[in-house]
Amino acid sequence: MTRIIRDIATLQSLVRGWQMQGQGVGVVPTMGALHDGHLSLARLARANEDRVIVTIFVNPTQFNDPGDLAKYPRTEQADAALLETVPVDVIFAPPPDQVYPPGFTSRVHVGGVSDPLEGAMRPGHFDGVATVVTKLFGMTRADRAYFGEKDWQQLQVVRRLVADLNLPVQIVGCDTVRETDGLAMSSRNARLSDAARAVAPVLYREMTRAAGAIAVGGDPGDALMAATDALHAAGFDQVEYLAVRDAASLGDPVPGQPRRLLAAAWLDGVRLIDNIPL
Ligand code: PAF
Repeated sequence: MTRIIRDIATLQSLVRGWQMQGQGVGVVPTMGALHDGHLSLARLARANEDRVIVTIFVNPTQFNDPGDLAKYPRTEQADAALLETVPVDVIFAPPPDQVYPPGFTSRVHVGGVSDPLEGAMRPGHFDGVATVVTKLFGMTRADRAYFGEKDWQQLQVVRRLVADLNLPVQIVGCDTVRETDGLAMSSRNARLSDAARAVAPVLYREMTRAAGAIAVGGDPGDALMAATDALHAAGFDQVEYLAVRDAASLGDPVPGQPRRLLAAAWLDGVRLIDNIPL
């Protein structure tokens, strides 16, 4: 039976009890509106851990657009029903004033990896993520935390944060879960019209095509230009970025180091992001 906890002290005394018995604790941080991608993280945590906590908190400090925060779906009952199927031990769903009580002034900034791509398009976004993730680690005191590769840059920001600040948590990255047509699962997909939903998989298709061309020695600039043209032709309004980067730092590729192809593009008023290895 999944227990819903809303206050930090109750959560911490429960976790302390588990850890005193030598049980391993995993946390899956989420903002709710759960889909199969989140559930795959929870299932992996369930398989690895004695105890699993899923946090549900729509974090206001990571939204640079107040309209986006207002529109963000809040579906706690449906989320709880889905998590029962895993099952998880605890849903930690604190109210905003537990997380940001009056007088709260701190902010965590992870230099470098936070700056390009999503960081450039959404100023302050990763400071909000790094701050809330640091707090969620402190609140849950989990041994391991599970993050999806769908938000690749976020995963690298969190890895850098944990390494730089010696946070006592191990980060586990999990594969992106895709619909059968290739579209990466995201809470935002529900906002696509039927017509746009039919076009959306073109993003992954064109990224895969560009990655294939680059892998066999094609010029990256040409491959990315062809993919951008194909996205526009398919009906995407704007390609914010389509870039090959160093997989860990998100800076320019470094010879001999893993690379990643990352994209953000608008379709039907919805911003889609995706990434694949190169
Ligand atoms: O990936 C998300 O849903 C959020 O950015 C996270 C990690 C839960 C922090 O609010």
